[in-house]
Amino acid sequence: MNTIKLTTIAIGLCTSSSLVASDFDIAAAWEKDCRKCHAEDGSGLTKKGRKLRLKDYRKAEVQAKMSDEEIVKAIKDGVEKDGEFTMNPYAEDYTVEEIHAFIAYIRAMKKE
Ligand code: HEC
Repeated sequence: MNTIKLTTIAIGLCTSSSLVASDFDIAAAWEKDCRKCHAEDGSGLTKKGRKLRLKDYRKAEVQAKMSDEEIVKAIKDGVEKDGEFTMNPYAEDYTVEEIHAFIAYIRAMKKE
């Protein structure tokens, strides 16, 4: 997790002239919008996460089955089951760059 933070800071420092928001804190974003379901470590072992039977992002096989495109799509469009959102769409909350930052953040949760 520290590596990601450092990378984010490094990218932030190098891109003052680009469109990437240098003040975007991915860990804070996860904490605010994702943690209550997916848990701090991505295990999905929260009250809500257990109920929704969330995937465990610490597992290599889960990571392998999930493409970067699927990660982006879930965050942008949310996840629907039986006509109801089990995960809300975040397309209006985050820029494309910010949504892409979640890919690296989620990939770094892999533990086995
Ligand atoms: C209300 C609970 C809830 C919140 C909050 C939530 N999610 Fe989800 N998320 C789900 C559910 C339900 C699924 C579908 C089941 C699964 O894939 O584990 C899901 C699936 C996903 C997937 C997997 C897509 C795939 O193809 O397997 C990703 C990636 C994801 N969420 C990221 C996020 C991120 C990033 C945030 C915060 C911006 C977030 N989620 C917030 C409930 C939630």
